Parts: sequence; C-alpha cells; structure tokens
Amino acid sequence: MPAPVATPSVEKETATAQDGFLTITDSRTGKTYTIPITHGNIRAMDLRQIKVHDDDFGMMSYDPAFTNTASCESYITYIDGDKGILEYRGYPIEQLAEDCTYTEVAYLLLHGELPNGAQLEEWNAAITNRTMIHENIKKIFDGFHYDAHPMGMLISSVAALSTFYKEAKNIHDPANRRVQILRLIGKMPTLAAYAYRHSQGLPYVYPDNELSYTENFMNMLWKKTELRYKSSKVLAHALDVLFMLHADHEQNCSTSAMRNVGSSYADPYVTTAAAAAALAGPLHGGANEAVLRMLNEIGSKDRIPAFIKKVKAGEGRLMGFGHRVYKNYDPRARISKRSAEEVFEVTGRNLKIDIAIELERIALEDEYFIKRKLYPNVDFYSGIIYEAMGFQPEMFTVLFAIPRVAGWLSHWEELLNDPAQKIARPRQVFLGPRQRPLVPLSKRG
Ligand code: ACO
Repeated sequence: MPAPVATPSVEKETATAQDGFLTITDSRTGKTYTIPITHGNIRAMDLRQIKVHDDDFGMMSYDPAFTNTASCESYITYIDGDKGILEYRGYPIEQLAEDCTYTEVAYLLLHGELPNGAQLEEWNAAITNRTMIHENIKKIFDGFHYDAHPMGMLISSVAALSTFYKEAKNIHDPANRRVQILRLIGKMPTLAAYAYRHSQGLPYVYPDNELSYTENFMNMLWKKTELRYKSSKVLAHALDVLFMLHADHEQNCSTSAMRNVGSSYADPYVTTAAAAAALAGPLHGGANEAVLRMLNEIGSKDRIPAFIKKVKAGEGRLMGFGHRVYKNYDPRARISKRSAEEVFEVTGRNLKIDIAIELERIALEDEYFIKRKLYPNVDFYSGIIYEAMGFQPEMFTVLFAIPRVAGWLSHWEELLNDPAQKIARPRQVFLGPRQRPLVPLSKRG
C-alpha cells in the first residue's frame, strides 16, 4: 500500500493565539461582552452568548453568500485580492507557472512541499498508472446524446467512479484516500477526453503511459489513425501552464461545495462530482465559455463601445471581468495573456484576442469598471487560447475541472484532518409565518 499523503510540514500556529479582544455593547440590554480576537478574527460562536433573554437562541452573524465568513483555517492557498497576489503553499503563482509542471504543483498542493526528483518520478508514475478507466464507463458515455454538454458527461462519469471503487467510502483511512486521490488526478483527463470524443462521434483513445500528463491528454483528445500521436511541445506546455493556474483558488464556490459535501463523509468521487457541478455555473468555471460567446456576439472592435454601454445599463455582464476576491488584476489573467501569444505562434492568431485586448483597454479606462474595481479574471483569456488549440467552448469548463481536482482534493484532505470541522450546516434567519391553524382542503377558497 503506498504511503499516505503527508500532512503539510508547515508548522501550524495554535488556534488559541490571541491578538486582543473586541468589546461589544448590546444597546438592547446595556450588557458588554469581551470577545477574543484570534488571527485578526472573532469566532462566530462567541456571538451566541449575546442574548436579550436567557432562553433566546443567541446572536448569529447574517452573511448571505459568505462574503465575510471564514469556514475553515487553511494552509493551502493565499490570495491578496487587493494586491493581486496568488500563492500555493507560499510559492507565487508566477514562479510556479515559470518553473514547474502541473503534476508537480498537484504534489505541492497535496503535500505542502515541492517534491524532489525521486518523489516527483514516483508521483508521476503513480498517477500515470491510474489513467485507464473501466470499460463499462465507455458504455456510460455511449448512453449520452451526441450533443450532451461535456461538463454534464464529466460530472456524471466522475460520480459513476464511486460505484467502481466501493472501498473509496473508507475516507478515514489515509492510505485508501491516497489511492483515490491518485485515481482522480489520473482519470480526470481520460474522462474529459472521452466526453470530448463522444461529442465528436470519434472512437475513444486509450491513455499512453509514455507521455506526460498534458501530452497524454492531447493524445486522448486528438489522436486519429496515426500509430503514435505527436503533440506540439508549445501547446502541451501552454496547457500545462493553464492547468497550474487553475489548480486551486482557496474557498471559491466549487471548493466550498467540495468541503460542504465532503463534511458529510461522502466518498471522494461523488464529492468531486458535486464540486464539478458547482464549477459548471456561468458565474464560476462556466465563465470562460461565456467569454467566448460574448466575444462572438461582439464580433468586431468597432462594436465594443455599444456592448460596454449595454453592460453599464445593466443589460448583461462583461464576462471574464470581476472577481469576488480580486479587486486588482488577477495574476492568472496576466500569465494566460502571455501564454496566448506563445500559442498563436503555433496555431495562428485567434482574432478574438484583439477584441479582448481592446475590450480590456476600454473597460480599464471606464469609470464604471474603475469604481467597482473590475479587472480581467483568469477566464478572460483562457477561452481564447483553448479555442485557438481547437476546443469548442463547451469543453472550456471541463478543461478547468481537470486541474482543479488537485485543489479540491487538497481541501478535502485538509478538511478530514481538521479536528475543528464537523458536518457543514449553516443557520438561517427565519422570517416566515409560524404556528398557523391548518384549513382543510375542502374549506380553502
Ligand atoms: N460586468 C459588469 N458589471 C459587473 C461585473 C461584470 N463582469 N461584475 C460585477 N459587476 C458589477 C455588479 O453589477 C455590481 O454593480 P452595482 O454595485 O452597481 O450593483 C458590482 O460590480 C459588484 O458586483 P457583485 O455581483 O456584487 O460582485 P460579486 O463579488 O458578487 O461577483 C463575480 C463576482 C460573480 C465574479 C462577478 O464579478 C461576475 O459576475 N463576473 C462575470 C462572470 C465571471 O467572469 N466569472 C468568473 C469568476 S472567476 C472564476 O470563477 C474562476
């Protein structure tokens, strides 16, 4: 049995370290409460002691969409949205994208440290040896309509893996968890490629263990009748960089879904399927698909001012712009903008880049976007690269989901190793009617 995924070697600060106290006076009662501040925050449960009457439930904080609520302590990814900083385990994304590969970054996210040469070789081999999928899964793909959305096929097939690996439900066994993690990282490209081949009416291509992670993915996507698929090194590298950029982004919608569902101790396959479902929405991972549709709709540079006018009038959004956390340029957008130029050297220029660059220029000079701190996010340029490589927009979110699995699983591991965590169960502020007398159906007018 392979060794379990190591817990991060980063020294954990104690959760009891206190920065000071917050004093709250309740105007309803005149009572004063002293609440400890830890790591700059207060615990929501410390508010519960604030009551008007002894039998009150106690005060909660109301936070729709969790815009100001931390649900966990995490050691994985750091974002400073105002400064445009993104770090995985302390390493700036720019350096990782420059010097590493996606599987190396996946190792880093899961283990807390970068691998040495031998560790990386073993890690890559362990992933590569798990890229095949059960033949019955092909039949699942065969059951989908020819025009089924690949994201729906991916979500369904990831969930279906749960029925093939029944031992995956033993989520408290670290060695067992490690096997499922390797399987998920290994099989995601295969499932994604099968979804793509099905939508194209092409036969499925088996993985080739001689190839790198991204080259093998390209092989499964695009191999025709040739004996051996030869990928472009430039395109394989660009895809690998995009995979690194998308590998994690702390507590976003899909990662929170992963943690929420994982907190019920569901197995990692159905939990990952839930996270992928969250990613599918147009406000999250579906945005890169929406960006391409938007650029198609705009069509040419001279139509940009009219489009911007519509956005400012509240008729739709500038897709690929804005972020809940970044109130500055998303560092991933800068890297993918650069990657686009490298890709075009091989594929030829995707003319949509010119519309995108002009759109960015106009938006960044416009009061509406400046005031709201709306900058390009990771999805603004990635779709243009994917399209240049030959992907249909429907595949874009799938391409996001493949690498994000490493992030989701790192958070799942962290959740299961965190003694402070329980099944996720938010509260509500109930404002509906209560204790109403029931009128029988015959007497309702
Ligand atoms: N175009 C135009 N206006 C926008 C945009 C946009 N892309 N994004 C936000 N705004 C405006 C809102 O209308 C709002 O204006 P108001 O104050 O006049 O009402 C203000 O900016 C704040 O917007 P919110 O929706 O409150 O910001 P929130 O943090 O909730 O939303 C989100 C973030 C969902 C990413 C949003 O910016 C958006 O919809 N962007 C487009 C979709 C997109 O690109 N999503 C990908 C995000 S990255 C990722 O998930 C990988």
